[in-house]
Order: sequence, then structure tokens, then C-alpha cells
Amino acid sequence: MCGIVGYIGREDAVPVLLKGLKKLEYRGYDSAGIAVLGARRLLVRKSKGALKYLEEKVDAEFSAGELAGTMGIGHTRWATHGEPSDINSHPHTDVSGKIAVVHNGIIENHAKLRSWLKDHGVAFRSATDTEVIAHLIDFHYNGNLLQAVTESLKRLEGSYALGIICENEPERIVAVRKESPLVVGAGKGENLIASDVPALLEYTRDVYYLADREIAVLSRESVEFYNEDGVCIEKKASHVDWDASAAEKGGYEHFMLKEIHEQPKALTDTLRARIKTNASKSIDSKSINLEEIGFDASWAEANRIVIAACGTAWHAGIIGKYAFERFARIPTEPDIASEYRYRNPIFDPRDIFIIISQSGETADTLAAMRLAKKNGARIIAITNVVGSTLAREADLVMYTWAGPEIAVASTKAFTTQLMCLYLIAFQLGALRNTLSKEELARALAALELIPAQAEAILGAKENIQRFASQQFNKSKVFYMGRLFDYAVSLESALKLKEISYTHSEAFAAGELKHGPIALVDPSTLVVAICTQQELFDKMDSNIKETKARGAAAAVITYEDVSYFDDTADELFRIPRTLDSLTPMLSVIPAQLYAYYTSVLKGLDPDKPRNLAKSVTVE
Ligand code: AGP
Repeated sequence: MCGIVGYIGREDAVPVLLKGLKKLEYRGYDSAGIAVLGARRLLVRKSKGALKYLEEKVDAEFSAGELAGTMGIGHTRWATHGEPSDINSHPHTDVSGKIAVVHNGIIENHAKLRSWLKDHGVAFRSATDTEVIAHLIDFHYNGNLLQAVTESLKRLEGSYALGIICENEPERIVAVRKESPLVVGAGKGENLIASDVPALLEYTRDVYYLADREIAVLSRESVEFYNEDGVCIEKKASHVDWDASAAEKGGYEHFMLKEIHEQPKALTDTLRARIKTNASKSIDSKSINLEEIGFDASWAEANRIVIAACGTAWHAGIIGKYAFERFARIPTEPDIASEYRYRNPIFDPRDIFIIISQSGETADTLAAMRLAKKNGARIIAITNVVGSTLAREADLVMYTWAGPEIAVASTKAFTTQLMCLYLIAFQLGALRNTLSKEELARALAALELIPAQAEAILGAKENIQRFASQQFNKSKVFYMGRLFDYAVSLESALKLKEISYTHSEAFAAGELKHGPIALVDPSTLVVAICTQQELFDKMDSNIKETKARGAAAAVITYEDVSYFDDTADELFRIPRTLDSLTPMLSVIPAQLYAYYTSVLKGLDPDKPRNLAKSVTVE
């Protein structure tokens, strides 16, 4: 996600825009830029890197009065298409430089529009999807910016929040949103737009939240609203009583809670444009669009998949193992990167090698990737950061469109990593005919339901908060499960230990009797993750074994399962899906439990002791 701002009023726009972008840096920070309408000229200044580099770039010019102007737009970027660079930074302009656009979102049909515009003589400068918007508006511009925007919107597919200005129309800013947030701030003699409230609070607390496909036209004295056809509509203002810090977190107390709640959208964005199913078309491997990693029949011949990662990303790799072996019947070896790099691993050029890393900067993970690459492996990276070291050094990259993950504890990056792994597993299964068309259709249909199902679990978070208020002082918390549930147990235990400092461990439930059950006593809380139906009886016995030793037992299982009602002291329910897809759902109660436990213990879940968001040292 990126941050966009816009200002039209009586003050110099540059300081207002820069201050607004500062407030939105948590939304993206790999490059930044502004466009200001000075004395009848539209001036664009932009720079790769953090906002401070842009500030340094414009400071002298502004002080010399060369960037005077009381209207403009600005952008702080979280790169999606086109890695961070000066030229890929926003704002983007049309060829003549008279129209400038800032954009938050993803234009899915940008490639088609780019070639159509090129056929009409447009020369592109950047590698971004956004640039097509500036040229499209210019193509439709005939003296009325609003009309040119409404015409252009008809041809855009995907998500967008846009701020648009035009040199010929210095009295107005046009703003529009579809699936990416955009707020209008109504001041006195000045009006603003922003991706989020924090950028507005210094000027006004009276805001209008744009709904999908609504357009706002801001002048110094007024704000008008239109629907996508350019028909005027009425909107009611809201009054914001948040403080700036709460507003950065979208009203949530911590970034971690905000990011847990961003998972449905992150999952939707990660899935978007990668599944092409519709009733008319038959379902086959082409129903999954993984062009970004060039999956073709040759991949189907692989006789092993190797995965290397650390921490949460390694847990995703374990789930990848279960998925690849179930759907594609390819032996899969997930390994901790810091182990892999030193164990003198065996290489086979036919291997599919997957590196998973949210930050794309983890030292051990990069070392494992470089070792594999040196031995001829073709690297597929799954990462959340465009332009990261991993993204630049890997041969192929599949991005999780989760947006910046600020909290140290990884949540939305984890579930979107899983989404990527499932898509790869399904496509390999279809290519190798280990997944029938019916099975693939069922799997894709289930995958498309996951974001809404994640939303439903979040809607019941009070139940988990209550449970945490009863259990947060437990000194020992053991997560257990089998198969996919075991891998989720590992991730659940890590979440709890890293932000609440509770001694929490995960066990393959079948391992209990091989030692760990000696640890179980009345001070123990056991959380059993039970979504693998063919093993419910085994799990029920394991839970009973722990209760016989005085443990309290909570169970995470399907909403329509009563199997554990008599055994469990507490039940947390998730919507029904395929047993093999449950990790994207069953982990959410555990994320929430860890979060509430940390807060109840008076800790800061966003900044746990001794930990960093990206472990760039060994
Ligand atoms: C997860 O909550 C932790 N912050 C940590 O284990 C993390 O997953 C690990 O350091 C790997 O980070 P990466 O995904 O950025 O490589």
C-alpha cells in the first residue's frame, strides 16, 4: 500500500504535502514525490528512498521560491510494479507533463493499456502500472479534467485511490477511489485528500470517506462529489476524534492488531489476478496465472522442491511441504535457512528452489539462497518487499501483496505467503495431473472464500480476548496438532513466545507420549488445533491425555464440528474449508490470543524485547 496526499488552499503546498507524507510513511517508504502547480506550471519532484531524501531535494528550491504554489499532490510509495527508483516514483505525468497522478493500488490491466497507448504513440518512461493512468487521462482530456477522469476510469481494472491535477485547471484537484482508501479533509479556504486520516488532522477533523467508485473534486472553497458517471451526489461529513498516533494504526491500539485485521484484504490482493476462473471456462492449470514465475510444463518434471526460510517464513515452508506433497506429489524439503547454509546440502539442477522472506533481507535466508544459486539452482522468491535484496537476486519473484508489515510479529505476511504456496501447489498439481479438474475446481473455489472466512473469524475476536484475560498468566502454553495443524502449532507458539515472553512450545500431537507429556501439569494450557478430520479421534485422545494430567485444553476446530465439545474446556471455531487450506484460518485465533496476552501482560506487541523486524545480521 502507498500513501497519497493532496492540498488546495492558500498556504504553500510543499510543506503541507511533505508533512502529510511524513504522517503516511508507515504505508510505504521506498520512494516519494510531489507535484505542485506553481505560476501556471506543474512542477514534479521525486526521489528514491525515504521521504527525507525528497525533503533534502526540494528544500533549496522551495526556499528559493522556485516551488511556490498553493495546490499539489504527493505520494510515498510501497512498490508493487517497478522496483524503487527515481523514475518509478510517483507522481507520474502524461507525455506533455500537464497532468500529474498519484496512485495507491494495483492496475491489473496495465499491460494491455500500456500496449494500446504505445500503439497510439505514447512514450513510457517508467516500469509502473500507474503511468498508464496519466496517459489515459491525457488521451481523454479535452479541457475538462473531471470528464477525462470519468472516461478513463471505465478502462481501468484493479484497485486505485487517485489524486489528479492538471496544469490547465489550477483551481481543482480530482480524487477517486476503488478498493484503496481515500479520505477528503474539508478545511476553511482549503481542502485536502489523503490515504488515511493522520495526514489531515493538522488541518481539519471534518472528513469525508470516499466509497468505491466515488469521485471528489476539490477547490479552495468547496468539495463536490460525483459517482462514476460524473453525476453529482451528496455525502455527509464525519468528525474524527482520534489522535494522530491512533490514526496511523487505523484506530487500532497497535500495528499488530491492525495487520491481523488487514489479512482479509491482503489475502484478496494476493489472490487477485492470479486466479482466472469463471463459470464458462473449464478449470485447468491455465486457471491459475503465475506468469510472474514463468511456471510451465518444465517445472512439472521437478522431482524435489527445496524451501529455505527463517522463523514464521519457515513455518510457511512447512505448510508448503504438506501442500506440495498432497496436491502435486512432489517430495518437498523445507529447511531452516541457518541450518541449510551450513549442512553441505545436496543439489539437483531439476529441483524447484523456493526462498520465503517477508523482508527479503534476512541474512541467513539470503545466504541459503546464494549457496543454492552458486550450485545452479533456479530461485523462486516469495517476498513482501519489492526491490528487496532477495527480490533483486532471485531468478523469479512472487510477491505477497500484504503491504508494509510494521509489527515485529509477522501475521498478514504469513497468511499471504501461504496463499502463494497454495497457488503454486495447485498449478503444479494440475500440470502433473495429480489434481483432477474437479479437485482443482474445488480447491480454487475454496481458496476464493478464504478472505471472507478470515473476516468472519475476526468478527468473533471478543471470545479470544475473553479467553486470554483468563489464561494470560499461564507459564506454559503448548500448541499441538497433526499435519497442517502441526505446522500452524509451530507458528502459533512462536507468536505467543515472541510478543508475550510466555514459554510456549509446539508439538506434533503424536509426539506427546515420546517425551513432552512429562511437562504437562495443572499449570499448563494446551491448545489443540484440530482441522484434519481423519485424525479427530487421535487428537481427542491426545487432548484427554493432557487433561488427565491437569492441563486446561482449548481446541481450534470447524464451526460445524461437535466432536470435541465434551473434551475441550474452550472452543474456537473457524469456517469450514478444505482440511489442507485451514492454516490461513486456524492461525488467526492464535495470532489474536498472542496479541491479547501480550497486551494483558502490559507489553508492547509491536516492539518485543530483543527482536528486530528484519534480522539482517547472523
Ligand atoms: C515472525 O513473527 C518473526 N518476526 C521472525 O521469526 C521472522 O519471521 C523471521 O525473522 C524471518 O523474517 P523474514 O520473513 O523477513 O525473512
